[in-house]
Amino acid sequence: MKNRNWLLLILPLLMLASPIFAGTIDHSKVMSANECGECHKDELDVWRKTKHYKTFNELARRDNAKKIAKNMGVKRIKKDSTCMNCHFLNKEEAGELTPISGIACESCHTPAKDWIKLHNDFGGKDVKKENETPEHKQQRLNAISQTSMIRPRDIYNLAENCYQCHLVPNEKLVNTGGHKAGSRFELVAYSQGDNRHNFARSATGDENIESSIERRRVLYIVGQGLELEHSLRGLSKATEKAKFAITMAKRVKIASKRLKIVNAKLNLADITQMLAAASSAKLKLNNEVSLAAAADKVAAINKIFAKAYDGSQFAAMDALLPAPADYKHQ
Ligand code: HEC
Ligand code: HEC
Ligand code: HEC
Ligand code: HEC
Repeated sequence: MKNRNWLLLILPLLMLASPIFAGTIDHSKVMSANECGECHKDELDVWRKTKHYKTFNELARRDNAKKIAKNMGVKRIKKDSTCMNCHFLNKEEAGELTPISGIACESCHTPAKDWIKLHNDFGGKDVKKENETPEHKQQRLNAISQTSMIRPRDIYNLAENCYQCHLVPNEKLVNTGGHKAGSRFELVAYSQGDNRHNFARSATGDENIESSIERRRVLYIVGQGLELEHSLRGLSKATEKAKFAITMAKRVKIASKRLKIVNAKLNLADITQMLAAASSAKLKLNNEVSLAAAADKVAAINKIFAKAYDGSQFAAMDALLPAPADYKHQ
């Protein structure tokens, strides 16, 4: 395995350079899933069968939602940012925020106004992706990298979206509102079931294929790193010994345990360093500075890890990956 101790040397620099939350959304740049669907019809059809889509019409009608809203003093679920930020895609017009759908394409790939025209221009109107010149491709990718777009190959940032919502990092919502303290989220199982829309990478372009085994290995590890990071962040904000703090502390332990099990097979310096960073902070209330610093360290290592490996060397962990029967269907 590669020696990656150099990582420790540049870590402080990386932590300065990267914002703590990558996924802050610029609502004024939101378009809509229907606009994506003009070219991505298959992806749109998949999305319309998911809970991400259905929550838009169903949430406010659920008894449980009404109860949580009442506990939180929320009058209109569709007008209150307490629920809107996680359950809907919101668009800003004339200074006002309006939910336009459930959690949609741009909730994960980022608002598209700046990149929608760039990402599918392969060198003129009639040029297909297969015929794009290397120079044009370089130019296009450079231009895209100046925008917010999260491309599927950027696993850390793409998956960070999931964890920002699915760990439900809001103490009051959980302890007072009675909201679930997060999902039983695992990135491979949650991305390869009914949410999967991997048409573009299939040979024909119209088959919805599972991510490759190499990619699933990386998804699994980056996912556990994100789980560790975000449960540390959640705990860092906890103020009372109740469901929220207890769940977050438990999640830190479970993610650490899973990473240890992976690392018993792979023996990677990156994973060892993530685990060391996490155990440098005590899992207790009123420990914000130390827990947040640990989360930042885990994040910085995980970001580098996500870019450094393609998973081809990780066959030893295959028995740990969820099987297709475990993928999340809705
Ligand atoms: C005018 C047509 C068109 C529209 C509109 C469009 N796309 Fe695309 N998109 C494409 C094409 C063509 C590709 C390349 C597909 C391939 O690789 O086979 C692509 C690729 C992508 C990729 C993969 C990029 C990569 O680097 O691998 C993502 C993600 C994506 N589109 C998201 C979106 C989202 C989200 C929207 C709506 C905000 C959208 N697209 C709107 C045509 C379009
Ligand atoms: C930080 C993100 C976040 C916020 C804020 C949030 N939710 Fe959720 N909510 C989720 C996630 C993630 C799930 C899916 C949980 C699962 O996996 O079952 C969910 C599921 C639900 C469910 C279905 C599960 C259940 O407990 O019956 C209801 C109802 C619900 N939310 C209501 C609300 C209401 C009402 C608000 C606003 C007061 C709100 N949520 C705010 C993330 C959030
Ligand atoms: C903007 C917040 C948000 C983001 C980003 C997000 N989710 Fe969700 N997700 C939710 C909410 C809220 C629900 C539950 C909706 C409901 O039941 O009303 C949900 C539900 C799901 C479900 C269905 C769970 C079940 O019990 O059936 C899966 C699977 C899922 N999300 C996977 C993902 C994956 C994978 C990602 C990242 C690639 C992701 N989500 C990103 C908020 C989000
Ligand atoms: C909940 C988050 C989420 C939502 C919503 C979402 N995507 Fe994705 N998208 C992802 C993830 C994660 C991947 C990579 C999955 C993988 O590697 O298995 C992806 C991959 C893609 C790809 C590349 C597929 C390939 O074969 O390489 C395209 C194109 C795309 N999404 C377009 C869209 C469009 C269009 C929509 C809306 C109709 C949409 N996405 C909605 C998270 C999301």
